[in-house]
Parts: sequence; structure tokens; C-alpha cells
Amino acid sequence: MSPLKLSRRQLLKSAGVVAGAATLPMTFVKIAQAAPAENFTFAYISDAHIQQIKGAQFVRNWDRGLIRAVAETNLLEPKPDFVIFGGDLAQLGNKAELDHGAEMMSKLKHKTHYVMGEHDYYLDLGEYWSKLFGPQHYSFDHKGVHFVVLNSVLTYDDWTFKRWPTAEQRMNEMAGLDNPNGSPFMVGEKQRAWLKADLDKVDKATPVVVLSHSPLQKLYKGWNFWTEDADEIQALLKPFKTVTVLYGHVHQIQYNQIGNITFHAVMATAWPWPYPQTYAKAKHMMPQLTVPMNRGDPFFERDATGWQFIDVATGRPTLSYNLYNNSVRTVGFNPKTGKPEDRAYQDPSKRIPPQTHF
Ligand SMILES: [Fe+2]
Ligand SMILES: [Fe+2]
Repeated sequence: MSPLKLSRRQLLKSAGVVAGAATLPMTFVKIAQAAPAENFTFAYISDAHIQQIKGAQFVRNWDRGLIRAVAETNLLEPKPDFVIFGGDLAQLGNKAELDHGAEMMSKLKHKTHYVMGEHDYYLDLGEYWSKLFGPQHYSFDHKGVHFVVLNSVLTYDDWTFKRWPTAEQRMNEMAGLDNPNGSPFMVGEKQRAWLKADLDKVDKATPVVVLSHSPLQKLYKGWNFWTEDADEIQALLKPFKTVTVLYGHVHQIQYNQIGNITFHAVMATAWPWPYPQTYAKAKHMMPQLTVPMNRGDPFFERDATGWQFIDVATGRPTLSYNLYNNSVRTVGFNPKTGKPEDRAYQDPSKRIPPQTHF
């Protein structure tokens, strides 16, 4: 059976068997010609947006999205080596939301690394989140791959500390997708200095995987699909042979290639964002996306939401998207073309035409 025809249930059931033969359902292992012993997988869950209505009442749909992702991650065979949570666990960053989210995440049977999202951060500037989940930036090594976690949702001090009369208002202003009162995300000078020192210690042939909440590329400023100091960060990553940036925040499938850096967005368990039409119109928003992408059905409420099973072979992760409409989509790096490709939609006749409505 072709891997692309596997349903989610079949993926869950058969992944172990197939992986044993070093041909995971996302078979990118073969294309990347990796030594099978070096391959590993991890799962990625992101953007749960757990939202308190009042007291112990939370938005049920967002709860269900996260509960389902956790339950299905626990069923994976082979077991992922670890799980990443990509940020925006909470909607408005309060203790009730973060506690409730943490409680649901605690059902995961795997070690979980957390990334900070703006919805987690702007109420108390990450204080309670850090109590629950630890440092906001850090690195670790796993089976020959260097992982870096960044807090990429910082912004200018003036905006953070001087603009808003209350912490709640600051949080609300940053929580809007297209709010002109928001402010561009950035990693910031201090963390960039830490990143430089961290990367200086790493052999340039070591595959690097960077985990951030915002894209670390400049996609669309109007919606903050953007990181203000992306160019500086990309420059720090340039000396490495193989770099992959995995990010949340955009709630949609995105992938791109800029030089040696492969970018993949991961999906939300809460809701999908549309692709801004202005991607196509705003040519001055550099770099342009150079890889054609397809989205699913914007009228399907769970379109492009789900979770990912990530297969790391020779440092080039392949993402297998587990969508709520039960079709598995796989995006992996093709060394022949030097960029990530969606395995189902390379044939132009199979592509879903771009939608002009949102
Ligand atoms: Fe989000
Ligand atoms: Fe976000």
C-alpha cells in the first residue's frame, strides 16, 4: 500500500511494523538515504488555545482538540522519542487556562519540550508558564541532532512595558490576529547572543532543528506571520549544513526553503487560519514563498488542524500531517530538488486551486 493512502487509523496501527523495516509510512527515510540506525521520530502538538469561559468552564472544542491529539500521540507505534508543544497552550495566558492545558498535556506518556506562544506570554510575560514548563529558551542534543528552542514572540520594550495600562489589555492587543495595535515578534538581542554562543559550540555538520512559535521568516507582517529579526537568526544558522525550523502560530500547513534552511509550520489543535490572500499580492514581503502549497477546505471547520509525526532522517525532518478529515499528508525534503515537497500534490493536476475567498 502506498504510504500516502494510509488513513490515520492505519498509520497508527501499522507504523510500528513498517518502521521496523526502516520504511516508515512517510518513507522519506529512503529518499534521504539515511542510515536507519540514526533515524528517530518525535510528535508535535501546537496551538491548543485553551480558553476559559468562566470558573471551571472552558471552550469545549479547543479542549477536545488537545485531548484527542494527546490520546492519539500516546497510541503511536513506534513511540516517538519525545513530544514538542509548539506554543499557544492558553488563549489569554491566565493561570486557569495554563493549568487546565498542563493537566491535559500531563496525560502524554512522553517527555515534552515546550515552546512559548504569544497567548501564553503577554499577560504576565511568561512568569507562570515558566513555573510550569521551565526555561523559555534552551537547547538539547538528541541522537546526533542539535535542537534549539527559542522564545520568538518577544517584542519592543516600549510596546511591552510602556504602552498598556493593564496586563490584560496588553494580552488582548497581542491576541488579535490582525490587530494594528499589535507589535512584530522577535527573538531579541539578548537571546540572539545566547543563540550565537550556543551554536558556536556545535559542529557545522551537525543537523540543527530550531523550534520557535513564530516563523523565523518574514511571511506576512499584517498578521504577525513574521519575526522581525528573522534575517539575523537565519545568518546565525547559515554556516550549518542542514537546518530545519519548525514553528506553530500560523495554524496552517506552510513549508519553505531559504538556502540551507527548511521551514515547516505545524498545525493547531484549535482552529485553522486561512492563507492571507496578500501572500500572492504583497511581493515586497520578502522572502517570497518559493514552494507551492495547497491547503484543504476552508469551509471545513477542522481543516488543517491536527498534529504531526516527525521523522528525522539525516537531520531533514519529514512531516506527516494527521488531519481531522482523516487523510494523512506528508511533506518531506527532496534532495533532488533541494526543497520540501508535499507528496500528494506534486502533480499540478492534483493541486487544489487557490481560493479567492478567505
Ligand atoms: Fe496560535
Ligand atoms: Fe501564536
